[in-house]
Amino acid sequence: MKTIINNYIETHKERFLNELFDLLRIPSVSADQKYTADVQKTAEAIKEKLIAAGAEKVEVCKTAGHPIVYGEKMIDVKLPTVLVYGHYDVQPADPIELWSSGPFEPVIKDGKIYARGACDDKGQMYMHVKAFELMMQTNTLPCNVKFMIEGEEEVGSTNLAIFVKENKAKLKADVIVISDTGIIANDIPSITVGLRGLSYVEVEVTGPNRDLHSGLYGGAVANPINILCEMIAKLKDDKNHITIPGFYDDVEIISAEERAEMAKAPFNLDTYKKTLDLSDIHGEDSYSTNERTSIRPTLDVNGIWGGYTGEGAKTVIASKAYAKISMRLVPHQNSDKITELFKNYFKSIAPKSVKVKVTPHHGGEPVVTPSTSIAYKAASMAMETTFGKKPVPVRSGGSIPIVAMFKSELGLDSVLMGFGLDSDAIHSPNESYGVFNYLKGIETIPYFYKNFAELKR
Ligand code: BES
Ligand code: MN
Ligand code: MN
Repeated sequence: MKTIINNYIETHKERFLNELFDLLRIPSVSADQKYTADVQKTAEAIKEKLIAAGAEKVEVCKTAGHPIVYGEKMIDVKLPTVLVYGHYDVQPADPIELWSSGPFEPVIKDGKIYARGACDDKGQMYMHVKAFELMMQTNTLPCNVKFMIEGEEEVGSTNLAIFVKENKAKLKADVIVISDTGIIANDIPSITVGLRGLSYVEVEVTGPNRDLHSGLYGGAVANPINILCEMIAKLKDDKNHITIPGFYDDVEIISAEERAEMAKAPFNLDTYKKTLDLSDIHGEDSYSTNERTSIRPTLDVNGIWGGYTGEGAKTVIASKAYAKISMRLVPHQNSDKITELFKNYFKSIAPKSVKVKVTPHHGGEPVVTPSTSIAYKAASMAMETTFGKKPVPVRSGGSIPIVAMFKSELGLDSVLMGFGLDSDAIHSPNESYGVFNYLKGIETIPYFYKNFAELKR
């Protein structure tokens, strides 16, 4: 098995990289209408790659938004079926001036592939297509496979949720495997066993009905930007606890033993601070950095604007101020409920001198996946084989909203076997993905299939 896999990768790795580069050159930004044709083109390209790798019934499924690519290889209905989920859409590339090379002109530098989507998630998704090709070409595919690759993960997967509800029979499987998360380090493999949920809102604060001269009116009317800042400041207390009444009511209480177990995951605070150029960290009282980004909910302003931001100085009191605010949720918080609590509280703290509008965006539920399942064992053993070390189970701070839906609608657990690193800078300028990680993923996935098929028997 080992020589078959390693020889195949060694022989074909240049092509594996070139094919990924072809995908990375298409700017499949799902959030921006300007790229709709490119998003479609990426879906078509993946369809062709799946067909070339040996998948059948490959189709680009239309949705009310961006399409979903589906394909399968059923070798024997008696064998277990693995459903691979991934996404081909990417985050916008801006601020573009901070990139060292074009976001859609992939290059390899110091062993890393630089491009938007290199890690999140084109690179990681495509590892599965190439691992599938490897198993097909070497006659080692031990399970049935279904691929479902979507184009709207970065904008909330609304249409995938509908697709899943409408295609339960088509998506029948024994497990879902996803590479869209990370490992602790290249010599410390890990498997993600938890994702946070998300509530995302946009707020609009209106003061006077038009922009005003800040000398003639300043001091006498509410400045919506000042007020918005004051209101945001009220959302947390001096211990960095979120002040929204009821916010923590449903938060899962983690036992001291479990926290002690989690604290064993390797982590170096000095390196953490150094890589981010921080002289100190910041967060909720009496929780560690890892706890703050995994088992605890958060509230963050993602963007804030209003008034004059152009060159020079303009003396003005703006009529309106805006902010985009996200809340990361943990089990057993509920996205709709938290959004409602936010809305009520935010309106309640607004002074009479302004009007406040709160608009909810997409959300998602938190999820914890079992670390005792056959699928987890299969993934753990696979990583142990290829990394030479048993992976550590860790809860991640990120969100993949569809994972909770896979459980509730399809009754399926997901194995979150990702290969990215925090230093890959996903969503940021100069996103990258290690060539090591890309090839390691392609190497590990066939072992997962083999272990899963054997353990299932
Ligand atoms: N792949 C990420 C999520 C992720 C990254 C989870 C690393 C764990 C480790 C995904 O593409 C993503 O960015 N999700 C969004 C949510 C979505 C609704 C926009 C997120 O977490 O902000
Ligand atoms: Mn992703
Ligand atoms: Mn992402």
